[in-house]
Amino acid sequence: MELPFAESYKIKMVEPLRKSTREEREQWIKEADYNLFQLKSDQVYIDCLTDSGTGAMSDRQWAAMMMGDESYAGSSSFFQLKETITKITGFEYVIPTHQGRAAENVLFSHLVKAGAIVPGNSHFDTTKGHIESRKAFAIDCTVDEAKDTQLEVPFKGNVDPKKLEKVLAEQAELVPFIIVTVTNNTAGGQPVSMQNLREVRAIADKYGKRVIFDSARFVENAYFIRTREEGYADKSIKEICKEMFSYADGMTMSSKKDGLVNMGGFIATRHEDWYEGAKRFCIPFEGFLTYGGMNGRDMAALAVGLDENTELDTIETRIKQVQYLAAKLDEYGIPYQRPVGGHAIFVDADRVLDQIPKEEFPAQTLAIELYIEAGVRGCEIGYILADRDPVTRENRFGGLDLLRLCIARRVYTNNHMDVIAAALKNVYDRRHEITRGVKIVWETELMRHFTVKLERL
Ligand code: F0G
Repeated sequence: MELPFAESYKIKMVEPLRKSTREEREQWIKEADYNLFQLKSDQVYIDCLTDSGTGAMSDRQWAAMMMGDESYAGSSSFFQLKETITKITGFEYVIPTHQGRAAENVLFSHLVKAGAIVPGNSHFDTTKGHIESRKAFAIDCTVDEAKDTQLEVPFKGNVDPKKLEKVLAEQAELVPFIIVTVTNNTAGGQPVSMQNLREVRAIADKYGKRVIFDSARFVENAYFIRTREEGYADKSIKEICKEMFSYADGMTMSSKKDGLVNMGGFIATRHEDWYEGAKRFCIPFEGFLTYGGMNGRDMAALAVGLDENTELDTIETRIKQVQYLAAKLDEYGIPYQRPVGGHAIFVDADRVLDQIPKEEFPAQTLAIELYIEAGVRGCEIGYILADRDPVTRENRFGGLDLLRLCIARRVYTNNHMDVIAAALKNVYDRRHEITRGVKIVWETELMRHFTVKLERL
């Protein structure tokens, strides 16, 4: 008999979870104005809000913490981190920051000027925010396949080379760089193929442009290349990462994802001019260049985390858990962005609650129902998150309306995955009884999803 797949670790420390009753949850979510960001974490049984900074560190990482060097300047932990990053990416220049959006802020302060155009594949909210707040434009050149959740294509996160080429052919002089997000979070944690990275590089070279990877989940991307793209099955994850980054000029990183730490980020690049430019903004915004907003001990833990996560065993355990949950949803016929991506399941709420009009926010309604059902907290990546059009002030209903269920790294077991799946099935089975959604009673102008107040209809 073939042995089944099992986790590549055992558990050394545990944290109790708190279960609750349906009555308690109904009360709590009402008090939270039906906004899951407003819940207290002990009101949540299984937390799938995000995979950002929610993972468990290894014993090696905790051991490294004890060796952290807290020197203001020249910390040896910084040099350990820099060496690891250079080994994995080939990038020689490294600037630590306190998280991913801070890396964007520092680098874009140098590179993005008013009127600039930054093409890429589904810029993450903060990336887009850091472009738009500088009165520049983020142009989404993701392949059209990403919009159809039921289409099974292996690299749904890809940049459409034709769309990218069109932007450059028309307005190359306004483009400071191209940004490729690996994996493509907004499109559903969908990977970008090596072939596509090569194509982007070729287009960039043709127009003399540079390429940045938003690398928050670059290891997950490398795993998908290994398992889905011809010619990579025998390569190590580290070899694949090295090749991926060979097509980029630099990266911004949220270490809270594939760095396996709870806080942190960095910029890395092969170009001295980018480094010199970014340096000027790191010091006032983040701190001196050898800590940039991070503790020495956190840089030490990150160095180990990056090394550990770029080993096949670690990343395979992670992806297989997400795929385990997806297989359960397949069994129950629940529609989600297919094939499942790296860090989360994105349930297609428009299809599940198809009798709820867009104006009543189906994905948010599904998130509330799932929380009340079992204390599972997901996150709406849909019409509320899309904010209003800055000019017309109308809601933006053009995109997908998804309920994202993120899986934290090395935190939950497959028994928890079974609970999530069963809870979702229970809601799915009574979907026709859910006929009304929610309405907004209070909202902010930008990033309203964090604080929006809702009422159930
Ligand atoms: N880029 C991507 C692709 C991300 O997913 C995130 C964060 C960031 C940049 C910003 O990094 O949070 O460290 O400042 N994503 C989180 C999420 C918040 O829930 O998907 P950060």
